[in-house]
Parts: sequence; C-alpha cells; structure tokens
Amino acid sequence: MSHPSFENAVGRFRTILEEQYQRVERISRPVEWLDYSKLDRLVVGVIGGDGIGPIIAGEARRVMEELLRDELKSGRVEIRQIEGLTIENRIRELKPLPEEVLAEIKKCHVLLKGPTTTPEEGSGVPNIESANIAIRRAFDLFANVRPVRIPSQGIDWVFFRENTEGEYVLGSKGVLVTPDMAVDFKVTTRPGAERIIRMAFEHARKTGRKRVTVVTKANVIKTTDGLFLEVAKGVAKEFPEISWDGWYIDVFTAKLIDEKRRRDFQVVVLPNLYGDIVTDEAAELQGGVGTAGSANIGARFGMFEAIHGSAPRMISEGRGQYADPLSLMRAAVMMLEHVGMKEKSAMLSKALDVCGVYDQKAKITGRPDGATAARFGDYVIATLRDPGLDAKWASFQKA
Ligand code: IPM
Ligand code: MG
Repeated sequence: MSHPSFENAVGRFRTILEEQYQRVERISRPVEWLDYSKLDRLVVGVIGGDGIGPIIAGEARRVMEELLRDELKSGRVEIRQIEGLTIENRIRELKPLPEEVLAEIKKCHVLLKGPTTTPEEGSGVPNIESANIAIRRAFDLFANVRPVRIPSQGIDWVFFRENTEGEYVLGSKGVLVTPDMAVDFKVTTRPGAERIIRMAFEHARKTGRKRVTVVTKANVIKTTDGLFLEVAKGVAKEFPEISWDGWYIDVFTAKLIDEKRRRDFQVVVLPNLYGDIVTDEAAELQGGVGTAGSANIGARFGMFEAIHGSAPRMISEGRGQYADPLSLMRAAVMMLEHVGMKEKSAMLSKALDVCGVYDQKAKITGRPDGATAARFGDYVIATLRDPGLDAKWASFQKA
C-alpha cells in the first residue's frame, strides 16, 4: 500500500541520508584539539539566556570574576558578555541561533551559557529548534560530560552523554508523512560512537577509575544501539586495566535508585537521549537539577551550562531570584579545568562543596524560605576569600 505523500517523504529521507553521510566523512577526519595553554589571552563568553538564566549566569560570572581577579587584571583572561540569545530574538528571527550571536560566540574560546527556553508545539510561540542543540551542532560539541557526586553516600559518577547524534541528530527534520503518521530518526555512527566512548575510557584511565558502564537498549533498538555497543566492545580492548559492563537503559535507570548498588557505578557512557534523561535523574538524587553542571566538549570549543532548563514557572510565579546558581557554578568548575586552570578549578570546586553540600549556610530551596541566588553568590565569594578554605574542606572529608 502506498500513499501519495510517500514520494515526498522518500525525497526528504534521501536528503537526510546525504547530509548524514557527509557528516560521517567530516567527523572521521583527524582534528587537532585546541591547546588552551598556548593562548595569550583566553576569551570566556557569558550568555544569560532566558527565564532564570540571566540571574544564575550573573552569579556565576561574579564568582568567576572573584576567582580570576588577577588574570582579568593582567588581561590573561577576558570575560565577555554576549547579548541576544533570548527567546524573543530567536522567535523574531525564526532561528535557534541568530547569526550575530553565533558570530560573537565564535570570537570566544569557551562559553558559559545560562539556560535558554526551548519551544514546543502548542506553546503559543513558533516551534523553533533548541538553541543548545544548535550550538552543540555548530561547534560539533560531541561530548556532554555531567558529573554527579553525593559524598555522604560514596557516589561519584561521571556521565559521558553522546551529544550530537541519536534521536537528536536531525532535530526538527522528522517527517510527518501523513497527518496520522510521524517519523523521526535515530542515527548512530561508528566515528560518533567511538569518540565519546573513547573519551569515557580515557577519563577513567586518567582519574584512576576502574569501571566504565555502557548503557543502551541494544536488545530492542538493535541497529543503532547495537552499533554503539559493538563499538564499545572494540574500544574497551584498548583499556585492559579497566573493566566494563553493558546495561540496558530501563534496568540501569532502576539501579540508580538502588541504594545498595548505585555507588558501584563510576563512569557511564550512553547515547544522547538516554543520557539526557538519566542525568536529570542522577542530578535529582544529588539535590536537584539546579545543582548539576554540564560540559559540552568539542575539539576546538567548549560550552559549559546547567543541566536544566530556564524554569519559566519560577519566573511566572515571581520566584526567579530564588533560583539555584550552583549548576552554572559547577559548570564554571568544569570550564576552568578544561582550559587547564586546574588550581582555580579545584579551589572553586571546594568552595562549592562547602557552600552547596557541607555547610549550606545559604540553603537554596527555590522559594522565599530559602536563600536568593545573590545571597548564595555572596557566600561563595566570601568562602573563596577565606584563607582557611582548604582546611575547612579537608575537615569535611574526614567527617
Ligand atoms: C539538556 C537539555 C537539552 C537537551 C534541551 C534544552 C534541548 O535538556 O541539556 O539536557 O535535551 O539536551
Ligand atoms: Mg536534559
């Protein structure tokens, strides 16, 4: 049985296949990674975004200014605010990423980005694509690295989420073949799977972790997830000192709430959509999505953000100032580490542990019974200035 619209749909599939084939060729070519240590001046872009974005990005920026005071003064580092990545502008231009914003981002080496609103069908605004996905695609930021730690429970996970393929690869290019039949696509490529899986294993090797967990649904999604798992088996052979195990996403999701088993996971690598879902779950266990940062890494650029969205409900209910800036501050920790400022990164990480995990003198609840983002920012800055920070942090480790 055929339908008059099949021809049109098949034509669109063909175009997609051609584009994806070209992408495979592109990502198969060797690339040279940007060496941040060779830069005379590091340019850090900061984007506020929508909803609670400007509030939490403002606090993260303030904390970075404190931490990098000397580097900013000497010109080794420049922090540059980039305007215009707002839902209003994106709708006006009907583009997920306005050209002039992209041009400004390209002048930076790394980006700290507040959350941006992603429209959906029926939300009353044009259903344009997510700005995040557009930036990830524009800079081929293939690795989404999301740490989650719960020291009191011995949990120290790092998720490596594939960031440019899977169900996300085509974004808005799915085909409504007939009004009753919609088809989206999931694409896994060998070079795409290989680079994220290898990064996860290399991270395990570098940090002395002994186990990598590969999560798929390869028993059902046999072709794409099957390829991901097959590639994992091959890469694992290059890391004989690291043990690896394959899990299906359903039972893995269950095990994350199994208090007896979950602390055994260390490094987890998984395709895009599973990674999206599971990292929100993991962040919630850590204290809420507002506590988790996210690094989007490519060979020549990095974008660092919160794992959560712009929380329009907090804004409409007038609670924006109570938003948790910890997520973006954790993102800043990852950014500093990525550009090679390891001491600064460790210092901020300790201050955030003290303020956000151990001491919590300015506890954020998202509501007026908790601290404001600004108060939390002040607390982090005061903690950074405290010469006893190292000792304080160490005392919590012993407790
Ligand atoms: C995330 C977000 C994004 C995603 C959205 C905003 C497109 O949920 O970074 O996890 O799905 O990747
Ligand atoms: Mg998400």
